[in-house]
Amino acid sequence: MFVGRGAALAALSAALGTAVADGPAVALVAGEAGIGKSRLLAEFARTTPTRVLRGTCTELGGDGLAYAPFVAVVRQLVRDDTVPPGRYRELGRWFPELGEPTGDGGRHRLYEEVLDLLERSAGPGPLVVAVEDLHWADAATRELFGFLARNLTRPGVLLLATYRPGVAETGPLLAELTRGPRTTTVRLDRLTEAEVGDQLAAILGAKPDPAAVRRVHARSDGNPLYVEALARRANVPRTACATCCCTVRARCRNRPARCSRRRRSRAVRSTTGCSPRWPTPTTRCCGCSSTAACWSPPATGTTSGTR
Ligand SMILES: Nc1ncnc2c1ncn2[C@@H]1O[C@H](COP(=O)(O)OP(=O)(O)OP(=O)(O)O)[C@@H](O)[C@H]1O
Ligand SMILES: [Mg+2]
Repeated sequence: MFVGRGAALAALSAALGTAVADGPAVALVAGEAGIGKSRLLAEFARTTPTRVLRGTCTELGGDGLAYAPFVAVVRQLVRDDTVPPGRYRELGRWFPELGEPTGDGGRHRLYEEVLDLLERSAGPGPLVVAVEDLHWADAATRELFGFLARNLTRPGVLLLATYRPGVAETGPLLAELTRGPRTTTVRLDRLTEAEVGDQLAAILGAKPDPAAVRRVHARSDGNPLYVEALARRANVPRTACATCCCTVRARCRNRPARCSRRRRSRAVRSTTGCSPRWPTPTTRCCGCSSTAACWSPPATGTTSGTR
């Protein structure tokens, strides 16, 4: 389940609308590690009817393959057999099926060919060219990205990049891009407590206990990557069901430190008449919708979670 981010998705859709109506546009998605840049892009790609071509910069940066994300973008066109007719001599170095490399055009010729290829590809319908993790881009990729942003002229192409702020190498490019006339910057904030609750509910398959939501929100700082990690690790209690769990919890509450698995088992048995199974209980002891809820310790107790 994808939580929140309605405004961010709307901003990307609006940027695409601008690219179609007014001329090529740029969208920058900024945020710390794990905040959801890739997930936002995936959701945008899933929900927009527009074709999205994606490439990713790798952490190898300058030591990696030059132009790696753009090679990936062109590869998608080659694989789908949707390369529009044109002269692609320099691009023949990347994909021989595009033409016999002449070897005399140089970098500028290559940039012109990429530009031409993207504009022609956007002829039948708009196109999103997304470069992920621009903060790791090698110098060649940064140069080509800047060249495209400056020189694309035909409407229909949205150049999109995700990045983590604060990386010195990307500074000048980002400064140039943000000065552009049709640039949108989307900054991803941390999730609210309600959104963390929604994310937990989706991961756990049941509504989480409000105290657990507060705790996970505080510990994760609303970063969805950490929310996922905490949800997996911490056995977050679900909301107690009215018929049995509250009673079980009430029995445990006065002696949380000593509320062992055995004691909890006994409490469940005496309250509900069914025998819990450890370590992965699957038996429902009443008609509640959440199996796991029946086995959770009190939210504020000092006992560890279900074992
Ligand atoms: N809005 C959301 N709803 C639900 N899950 C989310 C949301 N945003 C992110 N996540 C989840 O959090 C995890 C981290 O998200 P993601 O990989 O998109 O972060 P990122 O910003 O791209 O990080 P990095 O800078 O390391 O690439 C993923 O498993 C993703 O599915
Ligand atoms: Mg990412």
